[in-house]
Amino acid sequence: MRPISRRHALQLGGLGLLSAAVGGTGLLWPRGSLLQPRSGAGLAEPDTLRSADGVLRVRLEAAEGPVTIGGRSATAFSYNGSLPGPTLRLRPGDRLQVTLVNRLADSTNLHVHGLHVSPEGHGDNVFVAVQPGESFDYDYQLPDDHPPGVYWYHPHHHGMVADQVFGGLYGAIVVEDPAELPVARERVLVVSDITLDASGRLQQPSAMSRQMGREGKLVLVNGQTRPTMSARPGERERWRIVNSCVARYLRLRLDGQQLDLLGIDSGRYPVPRRVGEVVLAPGNRADLLVTAAEGTSALEALGVDRGSMGGMMGGGTSGEVGTIATLQVTGAAVAAQPGAPAQPAARDLRGPEPARRRRLVFAVGMGGGMGPGGMSFTIDGREFAPDRVDQAVTAGAVEEWTIANTSPMDHPMHLHVWPMQIVAEAGRPVDDIRWQDVVNIPAASEVTVRIAFDRFHGRTVYHCHILDHEDNGMMGVVEAS
Ligand code: C2O
Ligand code: CU
Ligand code: CU
Repeated sequence: MRPISRRHALQLGGLGLLSAAVGGTGLLWPRGSLLQPRSGAGLAEPDTLRSADGVLRVRLEAAEGPVTIGGRSATAFSYNGSLPGPTLRLRPGDRLQVTLVNRLADSTNLHVHGLHVSPEGHGDNVFVAVQPGESFDYDYQLPDDHPPGVYWYHPHHHGMVADQVFGGLYGAIVVEDPAELPVARERVLVVSDITLDASGRLQQPSAMSRQMGREGKLVLVNGQTRPTMSARPGERERWRIVNSCVARYLRLRLDGQQLDLLGIDSGRYPVPRRVGEVVLAPGNRADLLVTAAEGTSALEALGVDRGSMGGMMGGGTSGEVGTIATLQVTGAAVAAQPGAPAQPAARDLRGPEPARRRRLVFAVGMGGGMGPGGMSFTIDGREFAPDRVDQAVTAGAVEEWTIANTSPMDHPMHLHVWPMQIVAEAGRPVDDIRWQDVVNIPAASEVTVRIAFDRFHGRTVYHCHILDHEDNGMMGVVEAS
């Protein structure tokens, strides 16, 4: 498969249209059958709600209704009528209280992705189901040493997750640093995808894309198509990028600008890493410093081959999208800003023998007749069952999990509550300290992580963050006690 050239894609893209892409996941559509977005407006950010005196109280109403998407009026899901929902800004040690009101036609609930908080009771409990017309009060207590970084929230009601996230239910959470980084400005960029028909209504994905993982025809940044940002030469900005797409992997470039990665997910590198691109699997986040250089740079999402089920046209590949936003750097240069202060080295679980080693096998079965079209999505040969504990761990123990993927497509593995330290990829030890809460497991390969089941007790889940796979059963239960 050979992606078409970027220049060609741009010509095809034309005004107000996203560029064409490769192999069947194309973003070019017949005029009139799908919503034609308006591109190029200034980047808007979701409302920001900040904690005060250690508490943030928020009411989130999930509903289907009018929202602005790509500069057009549309009908989709949203929290509080905006897509994405409000950004929640917290400090370590804060308490977050959310009243979730369900005005949808189906059950829902709320998950705070990546936060290191209790999974029990009114905490980050994905076993709660909030029925239509009802509400639920969540109460999360962040530890005083909660890692700073960018997190996010989204529904987690098994069977409905992909539909509800695809429909527009997501928002960012920022846990601030104990000492602010010196930057000219911060931006939150929530990247999502969605498909809307010509009248701006949600278009349902095909049965096949519910198995491969649906990818939307519109790729949005904060609900906008190709928004523009501006900066002055020399300014340093901090970008918090969330991949809230259901299944699309993002390979992001911003050529012409200097990029220093502070970390992925909750992890923070001791020193920022100069990078040319950042790859985010669904659910991953990037904490990125951008040092502006004169000129106009495109934030591009390039293709990622995430594999396919052999012989199926249009497989799972996340095609090239092209430009998803633009940064214009003009005006008088500002004096160079000081570099990011070094971080204390992150905890390293390598060294001591783990209390236990486990092997988990992610598999996709063909012709089993389990899902529509006969594909089954399993971990250790089983589909999700909420009442079964698949991994019983001792609270406080450090374990080593090798996650194997026997299928011909990638699966981004996610564990709630406890972050994972990647210690080996395909059997080769990694030589740096890498903490993430979504770890991509490439097709026909394996990744080994270590997990410290510290601080909290209770039951929670691990799953593939291609949310269609999760809804199809690729999820298990872990209980710490
Ligand atoms: Cu972002 Cu269990 O998910
Ligand atoms: Cu999560
Ligand atoms: Cu998967």
